[in-house]
Amino acid sequence: MSQTEDRTGIDWEARFRNDDTPWERPGLHPAAEVWLQTGVLAPGRSVIVPGCGRCPEVTAFARAGLSVTAADLSDTAIAWQKTALRAAKLTGHCIAADILRPGDQLWRPDEPVDLVYDQTFLCAIHPRLREDYAFALANLWLKPGGQFLALFMQKDEPGGPPFGCPLDAMRELFSETAWIWPDPDDIQAWPHPSLNGKPELAAVLTRR
Ligand SMILES: C[S@@+](CC[C@H](N)C(=O)[O-])C[C@H]1O[C@@H](n2cnc3c(N)ncnc32)[C@H](O)[C@@H]1O
Repeated sequence: MSQTEDRTGIDWEARFRNDDTPWERPGLHPAAEVWLQTGVLAPGRSVIVPGCGRCPEVTAFARAGLSVTAADLSDTAIAWQKTALRAAKLTGHCIAADILRPGDQLWRPDEPVDLVYDQTFLCAIHPRLREDYAFALANLWLKPGGQFLALFMQKDEPGGPPFGCPLDAMRELFSETAWIWPDPDDIQAWPHPSLNGKPELAAVLTRR
């Protein structure tokens, strides 16, 4: 087992090489479509897609005029994203790295960005890495006033990935001292097309 696999608990690179990727959607996440249509993902804004895998949102965001940084520890996934961008004659920053290496090695963009779009990344990482992720989001990745576009995976069974992200735990992880939460009526549930239809709760959190 590699050091990264030991820390992350799963050999993501092997999953992409073997096409064993049940989390992948046939198209754009409907929440991403809403955020594109309503101007949350607006042209000119900068966005990080952590743990991007092979999600088509990277190219879609670049096509919509955003400055996209796509990051993943899988070389195969990042090569796929580069090819997709090139095929669409678009550009983006593609980072092949473990972006949650602890301490000083925690990855950071050259400049903090406007948006972070999380699609099945938070639920994919081991819960022991969640504090590092929340720290990076609030202190290294997002500008003040920047927005975390979250899709919180809901599931009752223990274990993972995907690891459940119940709202009470999320409110603790992304506490009101650092984040402004949306009105509960503005948190929308979207069932995943595979993964037994587990719902993801789409919420836009704003960094104070
Ligand atoms: C469940 S997949 C989701 C992929 C993509 N977001 C999607 O929705 O299709 C989780 C992704 O996170 C990546 N990942 C997991 N831990 C990571 C880490 N520490 N640093 C960078 N990427 C990581 C994996 O390689 C994988 O591509």
